[in-house]
Amino acid sequence: MDPARIPLILAPTPLHRLDRISADLGLEVWIKRDDLTGFAMGGNKGRKLEYLLAEAIAQEADTIVTCGSTQSNFIRQLGTACAMVGIHCVAATMELPYAAAHGVPPSDHAGHGGNLILDYIVGVELHRFPNDDWEVLYAHAEELAQRAEAKGHRVYRIPVGGSCGLGGYAFYRAAEEVGNDFDAIITPCSSGSTHAGLAYAFHGTSTRVIGVACDPEPEIMEDLVRIAHEIDDITGHGRRLTEADYEFRLEWAGEAYGVPSPEGEQATHRLACREGIFLDPVYTAKGFAGLLGLAPELSGRVLFWHTGGLPALFAHE
Ligand SMILES: Cc1ncc(COP(=O)(O)O)c(C=O)c1O
Repeated sequence: MDPARIPLILAPTPLHRLDRISADLGLEVWIKRDDLTGFAMGGNKGRKLEYLLAEAIAQEADTIVTCGSTQSNFIRQLGTACAMVGIHCVAATMELPYAAAHGVPPSDHAGHGGNLILDYIVGVELHRFPNDDWEVLYAHAEELAQRAEAKGHRVYRIPVGGSCGLGGYAFYRAAEEVGNDFDAIITPCSSGSTHAGLAYAFHGTSTRVIGVACDPEPEIMEDLVRIAHEIDDITGHGRRLTEADYEFRLEWAGEAYGVPSPEGEQATHRLACREGIFLDPVYTAKGFAGLLGLAPELSGRVLFWHTGGLPALFAHE
């Protein structure tokens, strides 16, 4: 049986050809506009939330607890969906989760504006912690969840980026909007359920799904495999993906998660100036830089999945 879903986005999102970029690259390049979902300023998370919120409502939760970066697009969309259905949204955040551990200097350039303004408008209870690694952030979220439970609240926990089986299932279903006409689909990849859902959907077809990492973390591969198994538990198809079933490219991740890259900036200028479409600095700029870098080894029809994130553009200098 299909999981329950509440409608949040305007689907199918637009799908169109990029004429100038296609001419520049000698490829047929298309774009899937999940930046234009029509929900909470767009982005890939709206799809995941349609299923996650339905499950939270079915479990009669009055509070949802999650975590992410301070400029999380997921928290902005989750907070909005929670406001709409009357669930309290609590989020643990760090400006640059894991950056400190990797020696990247902390920076405050993404600590204001952007998604934070939107979180404020919809009433997210946002807890900001000093930079540390992801495990510490998850522990903070768990502590917030337990604190809410101790006060008698019914808590639904959502992992970072909505990346669990239901989040991935949303992208397995999103694949129906593009069909089997593409030789390759390129998507930014961070917490993994967008890539995992698409890889699961196109497994065994002639469409390659290539995830371009936004975090320089090869360990994401473990999450990709786990999420695909969780999707399979939902569908019951018996399609057990392994690491060998993924094309996951780390070359365009840049210095660290949340830190814009020079290649991403160039990609942003190029898509804006050639096609009038903006990218965000943390995810889609790196993803599209990946498409530009991979172009010489691609052929036929290539689809870039624009996963949104535009409010964060206004939080970086
Ligand atoms: C704008 C944007 N693009 C891409 C991603 C990556 O998607 P996923 O977390 O499913 O890998 C995210 C979230 O992390 C995002 O906010």
